[in-house]
Amino acid sequence: MNKPFSKNYVTTPIYYVNDKPHIGHAYSTIAADIIARYKRLKEEVVYFVTGTDEHGQKVQKTAQANHMDTQNFVDNLSASFKGLVNENGILNVTNNDFIRTTETRHKEFAQFMWTQIQHDIYKDKYSGWYSIKDEAFYSEDEYKKGLAPKDVVWMEEESYFFALSKYAKPLLEFYKKTPRFIVPQSRYNEVIRFIREGLTDLSISRSTFSWGVKVPNDESHVMYVWLDALTNYLSVLSSPNKDLLEEYWNNADNIVHVIGKDILRFHAIYWPAFLMSANMKLPHQVVAHGWWTRDGQKMSKSIGNVIDPVKVIKEYGCDYLRYFLFSEVPFGQDGDFRQESFAQRVNAELANNIGNLMQRALKLLETNFDLQISKSCKNTLYSNKILNSYIEYMDDYKFDKALSKIIQFGHSLNQYFDLQQPWVMAKDETQKDQLYQVLYNILDNIRILAILLYPFIPESIEKIFKTLNISLDKIQLNFISQTLYDSMYLNQIESYDPIFPRIQR
Ligand code: MSP
Repeated sequence: MNKPFSKNYVTTPIYYVNDKPHIGHAYSTIAADIIARYKRLKEEVVYFVTGTDEHGQKVQKTAQANHMDTQNFVDNLSASFKGLVNENGILNVTNNDFIRTTETRHKEFAQFMWTQIQHDIYKDKYSGWYSIKDEAFYSEDEYKKGLAPKDVVWMEEESYFFALSKYAKPLLEFYKKTPRFIVPQSRYNEVIRFIREGLTDLSISRSTFSWGVKVPNDESHVMYVWLDALTNYLSVLSSPNKDLLEEYWNNADNIVHVIGKDILRFHAIYWPAFLMSANMKLPHQVVAHGWWTRDGQKMSKSIGNVIDPVKVIKEYGCDYLRYFLFSEVPFGQDGDFRQESFAQRVNAELANNIGNLMQRALKLLETNFDLQISKSCKNTLYSNKILNSYIEYMDDYKFDKALSKIIQFGHSLNQYFDLQQPWVMAKDETQKDQLYQVLYNILDNIRILAILLYPFIPESIEKIFKTLNISLDKIQLNFISQTLYDSMYLNQIESYDPIFPRIQR
């Protein structure tokens, strides 16, 4: 395990406010929350942030197309992203702050950042391809090779440039020294290839529209939206004073940026180069996840097949969505969302495997022992091997593997239950002690399994803990070794309801 109290800074990408949130945004945010909750489960300290990316041509154009004042437009959409997170947000995530790039604290810091990299900035004219959808520049070569998106337009305008090319070598050296900087490994190779193909200097200002952070000392330019946006990871720590910046950036043991694979280049190349130029500490890891399709098709507004996370959560609850997204595909790979697989997985793995077992054990405890846990018994089913492989998988972002380990453990509890046949023991007064031992064994192991599942399905796990009369403070890896009997603050269960209702298909 990591040293206790090690300090982590975990971020999500900040979301463009040109449309309401969809399942892909929810995925990035939940992934970061799982990491944050897992680290807290190990009693590490975590600062976790998310927010909205509100400047740039894409946002401005969409506001115009909607005949809305740009500020009004971004205020509305930013609020719908905020509604997913913060306290009581429907994704049930534990972010400590939410940054908007239109906030003064952000704009001031972005301008400060510009002054820190000023020595690498020069003015010239940009001519090349630009994708408004991606807010990204593409070279003639990329265009010819078909590597640029379809929406690119030819652009020629006066621009400030950042001397990115001079960072090619330092970046390669940095990656070499930090082999776990880009996760998964396959993405690492993609970044190296991109640099080896030749890094050109980067245009970092725009002068033909105005929706952005003004360039210091030149009001006719706004900062390139990616330089503006990436700076959020620091600006959110910079206000009201610089304490958080000191604590969670400069002195952090672990800085993790969670992103989607589409924005790797910006995080793994541009961002460390800007930080090197500003002579600042670099993050420890950029973790890139895959993309979701729906029924085998890319999700898009024009097809009308975008999954709205709010709808799914209203229908099935947040935990089922969280569970499905992270058990269905290995983190880092693409996944396909099918209603059928969603229902099947949740029913089999949560409702039948864990929920049903807990109900059966509690029912027997009720009829035979008045729901009392009167003494401790030996836990004969759990071994530390489970925890060790869980930690190994979780530290490596192999969430699907960690989950399947837990589910396997659940299966072995079911096997034990079926083999022992406690419902038969219940008919024989002389086997009462044995019956108690079986039920205790099951419930103690459900407690353990619940602790391990907590980062994924926190709401349900809290319900399990409340049912078992265990304080929520005991949802910690360190408490696994305590017994059920000692964990409970009252050795009497009052009532119990099904934790994992089945999805009706
Ligand atoms: N604003 C930039 C990020 C700036 S970070 C300094 C941006 N925003 S975004 O709203 O377009 O995308 C945010 C995240 O959503 C990305 O990580 C992206 O990968 C993720 N997803 C968007 N659609 C997705 C899927 N269909 N599937 C999974 N995630 C996808 O990029």
